[in-house]
Amino acid sequence: MRMYDIIMKKRNGEELTGEEIRFFVDGYTSGEIPDYQASAFCMAVFFQGMTDRETYELTDAMAHSGDMVDLSRFGDLSADKHSTGGVGDKTSMIVMPIVASLGAKAAKMTGRGLGHTGGTVDKLESIPGYDIALDSEEFLDQVEKIGIALVGQSGNLTPADKKLYALRDVTATVESIPLITSSIMSKKLAAGSKNIVLDVKVGSGAFMKTVEDATDLAEHMVSIGKYCGRNVTAVLTNMDVPLGHNIGNALEVKEAMAVLRGESRGDLYEVCIALASSILCSVFSISREEAEKRVIGAIDDGSAFAKFREWIGTQGGDVRYLDDPSLFPEAAYQHEVLAPCDGYIEAMNAEQIGLVSVLLGAGRETKEDAIDYSAGIILKKKVGEKVTAGEPLCVLYTNRESVIAEAEKRYLAALRFGAEEPAPEPLIYKIIS
Ligand code: URA
Repeated sequence: MRMYDIIMKKRNGEELTGEEIRFFVDGYTSGEIPDYQASAFCMAVFFQGMTDRETYELTDAMAHSGDMVDLSRFGDLSADKHSTGGVGDKTSMIVMPIVASLGAKAAKMTGRGLGHTGGTVDKLESIPGYDIALDSEEFLDQVEKIGIALVGQSGNLTPADKKLYALRDVTATVESIPLITSSIMSKKLAAGSKNIVLDVKVGSGAFMKTVEDATDLAEHMVSIGKYCGRNVTAVLTNMDVPLGHNIGNALEVKEAMAVLRGESRGDLYEVCIALASSILCSVFSISREEAEKRVIGAIDDGSAFAKFREWIGTQGGDVRYLDDPSLFPEAAYQHEVLAPCDGYIEAMNAEQIGLVSVLLGAGRETKEDAIDYSAGIILKKKVGEKVTAGEPLCVLYTNRESVIAEAEKRYLAALRFGAEEPAPEPLIYKIIS
């Protein structure tokens, strides 16, 4: 078998066999197939697409390219969630302790931020002492004992995706439904959970810009999961606007704690209720109404926050920061961006706002960059709100004085003002299971 023939077959729009797909995945993972042939293959898939059978074969081959986590000791209780990536998205830190406090076994491997989107690993590492690198026995023991553990991706989980995702990132082949489906679902299958909830983001800050594309992606991921014996639910949520008010690592931990303590309502709270309820429906086979009642109850009676505190403490985090969030180091510069005119905020470009937070130090431009945990943005006004000239729109937090003027300019350019109140957009478009 030759990689050249496989690329040509896909380029010509023909269906590949499982054997050909495994030849590509195994050869690329081992280094026998070079980047230039893998790039050509991804571009051929980008333009020609894949049948459902090919997408399944690709996902399965990628999932088996490295270790497979065995969570069978937790029976049907294991639960995982995955977001397709957004700005201000701190839902994992909220949803996982909620469902753990209600009896699910929350076992999650999570990633770092890259580009405009943040990553849960970086957010958790902003809590001094938090150990993201438990070995697999420690990880399983902790899930067994307290019902929750969140760790960075283990060295040999889906090595095919690690290489392919980095390649797609630099060859303009990220936004392909079969390639995103196989990338996300291979990681979820290898991570072992029986119940998987996918937060499929839609809008300016997401890979999927329209509800139609997001629905297509979600349906593919749900059906592949089902085919592999997992319960998969996809929740399509709005990412036209950053989620919640805080963007940046320690700032997001503080906001997550406020939601878990029942002190913060709004879009972030609503999305977390929908995601946590979807997990409970799947784990315990209960109605959505009953699941929502339990989720809201866990926030209101303090058990969700207590589980969060137990989890962070067990994983080495200094819980004094949770009891007194003012202990988190503050950025040296806190700069208010003021409204340039009267009117309504008609639109916010979430991707551009994510990039402003990277400029302030909250994210990485390359994989090697260090993160400034105190940097980020607190939004004071969001889409649909009325502003008067001179009123604060947001506060920029940074230790880099030299970037403040540029960050302010780019923040203002990411907003559109108008005279009329815009019609509200849905926060949750649909749930597919
Ligand atoms: N997230 C992933 O893990 N993979 C993709 O391809 C896109 C988003």
